[in-house]
Amino acid sequence: MPKVCIVFDRVRVEEKMLEEKAIELGHDTKMIDAKITQISTESKKNNFDFGDVVIERCVSYFRGLHFTACLEFLDVPVVNKFEVANNCGNKMLTSLLLKKHNVPTPKTYFAFSSEAALEILDKEGYPLVIKPVIGSWGRGVMPLKDRDTADAIVEVRELSDGPLDRIYYLQEMVKRPPRDIRAIAVGGNVIAAMYRTSRGFKTNIALGAEPISCEITKELEDLCIKASQAVGGGILGIDIMEDEKHGLVVHEINNTVEFKGLAKVAKRNIPKEMIEYAVTSAIR
Ligand SMILES: Nc1ncnc2c1ncn2[C@@H]1O[C@H](COP(=O)(O)OP(=O)(O)O)[C@@H](O)[C@H]1O
Ligand SMILES: [Mg+2]
Repeated sequence: MPKVCIVFDRVRVEEKMLEEKAIELGHDTKMIDAKITQISTESKKNNFDFGDVVIERCVSYFRGLHFTACLEFLDVPVVNKFEVANNCGNKMLTSLLLKKHNVPTPKTYFAFSSEAALEILDKEGYPLVIKPVIGSWGRGVMPLKDRDTADAIVEVRELSDGPLDRIYYLQEMVKRPPRDIRAIAVGGNVIAAMYRTSRGFKTNIALGAEPISCEITKELEDLCIKASQAVGGGILGIDIMEDEKHGLVVHEINNTVEFKGLAKVAKRNIPKEMIEYAVTSAIR
């Protein structure tokens, strides 16, 4: 039986579920804390105990991404691959790839200075949704409803010195029901989907949205398969909105997907599908 390793920085319910399932399936299973692992240019695969495949589950996106680069340097099979993590971790890269691969996605504008961003807003009209290109749980995702709000947000960014604050990601406000859809794709198979219903603008489960079971229609399935291919496949959380005008649109793909909400309403066993996929992808 292949040995499965789960790399973490904080053990959430999801990492516990993955560990328990891997053990239940009969795999020798190891949890590795990325925070206390050291790697060098001289490191070799057999200096470590990463097993036959690593499932990278760090909460910190940058920690996980850089750790993944090291694993690939050591020739340790890792899910997701570095390229996939990079494509999904940055919303601008994701939007570009989705569009390039003809996956319906909201119209999105990119600008690289506050002046250019404000010009787009004045030209396209309010509201537009501003998002940090890297981030999750809805953090920093805001509807800009008028010039005053836009000025305030731009000013805050100008005062800060974050490396990503000069990258402006502005998206059309999609007219949709008070919910969106989260689907999980594993190796190109859509294994679970839910509606996330919320009274607020953002429908993240982390912000208290309610998970409701969602049927995986052929349309939803085809869309998710195309979206998964666009970013390079793997274990993915695909966020979809029901646009009144254009039907289903993909607005985000998550790299280390949380699934404790979805596990409550899903018919298939999510951690089981993930472990089985990781193992088969490593042997192939
Ligand atoms: N363009 C949009 N129009 C309407 N609602 C949006 C739009 N973009 C995001 N939202 C809402 O905000 C939530 C968070 O946005 P998302 O892009 O998924 O960022 P995060 O990575 O933080 O989850 C979405 O799940 C959705 O409910
Ligand atoms: Mg999201």
